[in-house]
Amino acid sequence: MSKPSNERPLTIAIPKGRVAQVLSPFLERAGLGTQNLLADDRRLIRASDDGSVRFLLLKPDDVPTYVEYGVADLGISGRDVLLERGYDLYQPLDLGIGKCRMVVAGPLGTTIGARPRVATKFSRIATQHFAKKGVQAEVIYVGGSVELSPLVGLSDVIVDIVESGATLRENDLHVLEEICDISSVLVANRSLYKLRFNEIAPLVEKLRQAVQG
Ligand code: PRP
Repeated sequence: MSKPSNERPLTIAIPKGRVAQVLSPFLERAGLGTQNLLADDRRLIRASDDGSVRFLLLKPDDVPTYVEYGVADLGISGRDVLLERGYDLYQPLDLGIGKCRMVVAGPLGTTIGARPRVATKFSRIATQHFAKKGVQAEVIYVGGSVELSPLVGLSDVIVDIVESGATLRENDLHVLEEICDISSVLVANRSLYKLRFNEIAPLVEKLRQAVQG
């Protein structure tokens, strides 16, 4: 049986891999040593070097789930994942990392008709975007290499993330519409934020200073 959530150490859900590396200087500046976090091994639960905080290492898409269910107090998540899954998490801090844009893209000169076929891994974001414009899109889920889809006629356009723009460029696709800006944000479980306010708020404040400084 796991301990009640306010008796376990403060727990932060973190995406495995590159984000953990980019995040490390912020955590260090906020006083959380990350030698243990960045160690090259397969442990999924790790402590900050002083042992005050526990990190859970997860697939990016799973971070909000662990926070929503309250087994992590805080998490680092992309806004794309939060929007796509419709999570109701408190977002106290934009970390300003992982910046990119969610766009509609397609071959140059594409006109979006009354019922466009849209390939995407962000079905909800795509559906909502077109519904807002009064367009009933036929949304086709694909898991990756989304840019391929209009090139071979699976869809008219795509909804996807653009970071450098290289993938669109190298596949002769163009941004047709901007949907929103994306970045990594700190998320918090709403109940735990209140329950453990005396522990969580100072940590969020230190992270805020680390991000700003
Ligand atoms: C992401 C995204 C785009 C690409 C955008 O894909 O889905 O394809 O990065 O980046 P760029 O604008 O810098 O080229 P990812 O690399 O995660 O692989 P995927 O196609 O398998 O989703």
